[in-house]
Amino acid sequence: MGQTKDNVRLDRLLANSGYGSRSDVKGLVKAGLVTVNGVPAERSDIHVSLSRDKVAVDGQILQVAVHVYYMLNKPSGYVCSSKGGANPTVFDLLKESDRGKRLGGELGIVGRLDLDTEGLLILTTDGELNHRLTSPKHHVPKTYFVQLEKAVSEEEQRQYAEAVAAGVEIAPEDHEPGAVCRGGELEWESRTTCCLTIYEGLYHEVKRIFAALGNRVIYLRRIRMNHLTLDPALEPGCYRELSEQELSALTLTNHIL
Ligand code: URA
Repeated sequence: MGQTKDNVRLDRLLANSGYGSRSDVKGLVKAGLVTVNGVPAERSDIHVSLSRDKVAVDGQILQVAVHVYYMLNKPSGYVCSSKGGANPTVFDLLKESDRGKRLGGELGIVGRLDLDTEGLLILTTDGELNHRLTSPKHHVPKTYFVQLEKAVSEEEQRQYAEAVAAGVEIAPEDHEPGAVCRGGELEWESRTTCCLTIYEGLYHEVKRIFAALGNRVIYLRRIRMNHLTLDPALEPGCYRELSEQELSALTLTNHIL
């Protein structure tokens, strides 16, 4: 029988859960240490259901984490793509063992960042969550720290904020059509720096918003997605798994309408 999302080979499941290689798992099965629903498994290549079967090793019930969720602090100069080209990809920042296929499938990027954009990037095998967070229909807030080329007077700051709240009309770019952005929020930190929260994630949306306002983004860093904030202790180029609490902050549904 082929493998479905819920149906997985016992040796793969245990190898993915930290019980060594597939041949180590075979040894555990031979020694009678692995049970499925209380009955010792006879072979390591049988399939088990992740939702229905209870697998135990030496009496310890396996708690299966099907999906992985990483927070990466993306540095400038890395492309959000799985295919290499002139530039390295964000996958090159991952350890070899973290890049491969998992129980939950391939790792995907949640909301691409431009080559020169830095900051919060989520990588996950959870395709359903990825879709919920990135579909423009779901209006998930994403906050960016922005540095602008031209200093903005107090009066212009007010005008920019009002325009962003009302929804800026952005021009077509590359193969993307023009659009009227959904209203966002703009908070000024200085005459050239601000934090912008947007709710769609259209192609080059932040850069196109400020271009429409007559300015230019010279530095961009994503600092927040939904209720999850980039860990300030995570150095550029570094990544780690999300804690349970962080995953809840990312998935909290009051913005996912
Ligand atoms: N908006 C942009 O213009 N670039 C990004 O990388 C993300 C949002």
